[in-house]
Amino acid sequence: MARRPIIAGNWKMNNTIADGVKLVKELAPLVKDNKTVDIVVCPTATALAGVGEAIKGTNIALGAQNVHWEKSGAYTGEISTDMLKEVGATYCVLGHSERRDYFGETDEGVNKRARAAFAAGITPIICCGESLQIREAGNYINHVVSQVNAALDGFTAAEVAKLVIAYEPIWAIGTGKTATFEQAEEVCKAIREAVEKKFDKNAAEAIRIQYGGSVKPATIKDLMAQPNVDGALVGGAALNAKDFSEIVNF
Ligand code: PGA
Repeated sequence: MARRPIIAGNWKMNNTIADGVKLVKELAPLVKDNKTVDIVVCPTATALAGVGEAIKGTNIALGAQNVHWEKSGAYTGEISTDMLKEVGATYCVLGHSERRDYFGETDEGVNKRARAAFAAGITPIICCGESLQIREAGNYINHVVSQVNAALDGFTAAEVAKLVIAYEPIWAIGTGKTATFEQAEEVCKAIREAVEKKFDKNAAEAIRIQYGGSVKPATIKDLMAQPNVDGALVGGAALNAKDFSEIVNF
């Protein structure tokens, strides 16, 4: 089954509303003729509405960087699915390693957030990935598969088919050290096999798996040539319209 590539820019804690609007205004004409890739930008919470307005009528979709599982209430600092839907977000990055490492995000929390997002019609982009220590100890596949299995608990196979997973080895994020294509493929393949084991073949063949970690215009083509890599989650290079457009238009 041919899976449609999905390339998302994770802006992290960068870009004010003005910066973000300027960036997507530069980006839109550079990617407007691309009909083969799902293109997503994920601004900070404060810039979501402004950027959402600026991309109306383009082929760029809006994603958030987190969402809470409750509908509303006493959850200081959190954002609800209704709030994301109001500004037109259709994707949400969840369980990024920076959330897990700096803000105590757990597998259980990622699962609750993913289920709430999906139920609200927002496609979760569920992140997983191992630290350098785990990579060097050799048990990185088990680690990543266990993160994925936990994040997918309670979903049906038909639902899993519509999700996006982002495999991001922590040692490759923002370091300029991209995983080799073989390393990316090895883990993305293992994730797909784990999805087949937990759900079924259809879910495994349909779920889209991105690679993330220092993706650049120079590395995207070879990454996308890997049979189990269906896209990229791009940090640093997504902050530059030209670079991100070259990645999208690989
Ligand atoms: P990077 O970030 O492209 O700057 O390495 C990727 C990410 O963390 O999503």
